[in-house]
Parts: sequence; C-alpha cells; structure tokens
Amino acid sequence: MTNQSTDFLPIDGTDFVEFYVGNAKQAAHYYQTAFGFQPLAYRGLETGDKEKTSYVLRQGKITLVLTTPLQPDSEIAEHIKQRGDGVKFVALWVPDAVKSYEETTKRGAKSWSAPEVYSDDNGEVCISGIYTYGETVHLFVDRSKYNGVFLPGFVEWNPQYQPGTTGLKYVDHMVGNVGWNEMNVWAKFYSEVMGFKQIMSFDDKDISTEYSALMSKVMSNGNGRIKFPINEPAEGKRKSQVEEYLDFYGCAGVQHVAMATDDIVKTVRELRSRGVEFLTIPDVYYENLLKRVGTIDEELKTLMDLHILVDRDDEGYLLQIFTKPVEDRPTVFYEIIQRKGATSFGKGNFKALFESIELEQERRGTL
Ligand code: FE2
Repeated sequence: MTNQSTDFLPIDGTDFVEFYVGNAKQAAHYYQTAFGFQPLAYRGLETGDKEKTSYVLRQGKITLVLTTPLQPDSEIAEHIKQRGDGVKFVALWVPDAVKSYEETTKRGAKSWSAPEVYSDDNGEVCISGIYTYGETVHLFVDRSKYNGVFLPGFVEWNPQYQPGTTGLKYVDHMVGNVGWNEMNVWAKFYSEVMGFKQIMSFDDKDISTEYSALMSKVMSNGNGRIKFPINEPAEGKRKSQVEEYLDFYGCAGVQHVAMATDDIVKTVRELRSRGVEFLTIPDVYYENLLKRVGTIDEELKTLMDLHILVDRDDEGYLLQIFTKPVEDRPTVFYEIIQRKGATSFGKGNFKALFESIELEQERRGTL
C-alpha cells in the first residue's frame, strides 16, 4: 500500500471507458440488451453537438461511453477507419485533474488536453488527459463539484426500452496489448510517469501453448483500485493472439476489460441467454480441476456447462470466463470475473485459454 501523502497521482477508481464506434445507436442497444447496461446520458444533434453523438450506459460502478462521428473528416472517424470500434479513453476518477496533469506531464507524459473546466447548471467538472500506449488516452476527471447525470453537455437518457441488469459490478482490470519489445517501455511509463507498482509478471514460459506465446506485466496504482496488465507478443511457432490484435487494430490498444460480479454462474447464464458469445473450454479442462484448485463452492458440472474457468492462489480462488471479440475485427473482448479471495489473474488457466483462442484464430485464418 502506498501512503496517500506520498502518492503523487491519487486515483479513486475508473471513471468511465469510452469507445469510438461506427454506430453508437446500435452499439448502445447491444450493451443494453446483451450485457444489461442501463441508459444514463446522451449527447448529440438534439443537444447542440453537430460533430459527434455519445450514449452513456452504466451498470454497478461501470460506466461506458459510446461515441460515433457525425462528419467524415474528424479524429473520431479516422480512428474508426484505422482500428474499427475500440477503446479511446480510459478515464480515471481523481481528486485533482490539474495536479494529475502536472505531475504526469513533468515526468514525461505526452499531453492530450491541458486541464479544462466544463460547467452547466449542475456544477463544474475539470478534465485533463495524457496519452498512454498507441492512440489510447487516460483522462483525469475531477467531478467533486458536479451533481449532473454525467458530464456538462450531456442530458439524461431515459428510453422506453430498458432490459434489466446482469450483475456486473465494477472494472476489475483493463489489459493493454503493446508491440514487440514494448512491454517494458510501458511498464516503465506506468511506474515512472504515473507512480504505479509492478505487482506481477508472466514470461513466455507461463503463457505459451505449443504454438504461440505472450508476456505480461501487471501494473497497479497506490491503492490497488486500478490494475493494468500490459501484454506483448512472444516468439512462437505461429502467430500470437497479441500480434493478431495489433494487425487488426493497427497499433497498441486495450485488449480486454475485466468486469467483476458477485455471482458468476448467475451472470454468465444471463449473458448467454442474451446472446453474449464466450470462448469454448474443452471438457478435459474440468477433469483434474478440483485436484488443482481444491474445494470450491460451485458445482463442477455447472461450471463445465457454462465454460467457466477456476484458479487458486495463496489467498483464495477466482472464477473467470472470456467473451469472443465483440467486433468483427478480432480486437476488444470482455472478461467476467468473480474473486473469492484470490488477487491474481488466473495464471493456471492461461494454457487452456490460449488453446481456445488459437482454435478461434484457426477459424479466422489468422494463426
Ligand atoms: Fe484479464
């Protein structure tokens, strides 16, 4: 634990994750219907924005913003042309957006936007931003003086269609894929520029199958609320999934967002019934599972039917499952995770998981 008084970049949590998408109206419908996100706020032509439209959805503490361009010659349109739908902003909730900006830019961060105050009848919000890997940006958001529904410029969005939630609670971690030999560059960025600590690392011996490999370092902020694993591809007989991502995204970017639930069996049943597609785990994975992880509360058969993975560390165990990519390009996907004491990331599942991903790569002809 870092003492708050010595942490030059205190962060209270993830504020929101903003995607640039080709059609925000349809993407919003997908996140409502499939994942159970609830409508929160809107910005677009009707609110006076002629450049872009954004839908804001929330479930538990997870806030998603889906933004689409209304004009062909914008930075947003270019982003979509190059990368397809993807994460542009990982916004961090901070007590001081000015200090966050100053402390990080003086340590070498590249500026996205200097601190700016936005206001309306509900108060004011201060936002600044710095670039991280690829075209991805960290926004620093200080909303301590704001009472509105989301941010100035947005109005409440309360459509008639409102399917229920699926039990998703908060962002557990967000993983970045970076290029060859860049993992250490970005681990150093998070440690030197943002004051994060490395809490775990995996080399290609931990994360490799017969065919492909990757390496990863997990960076965490002082209070542990923000965890960013950074992956880079490693040499294997065939193409690593990280390389496949980079080929389709065109640069480094967010690979997956892990969302926590208190009841993974219930959540995954619900998500499956709403059309969310998950990676397939072969039955053989479950044959020796209990020998490996010991006693667990859940029925083995239930986990096998739902393709949920289990891993144990010194502090407890965790259950996790991974969706297929949620775009046609094999880029961003989601992890659903339930922690029962464990603070790690499912190292014992890497092999089974990556063999499953390779099966999908094989089908796509990108292995
Ligand atoms: Fe993960």
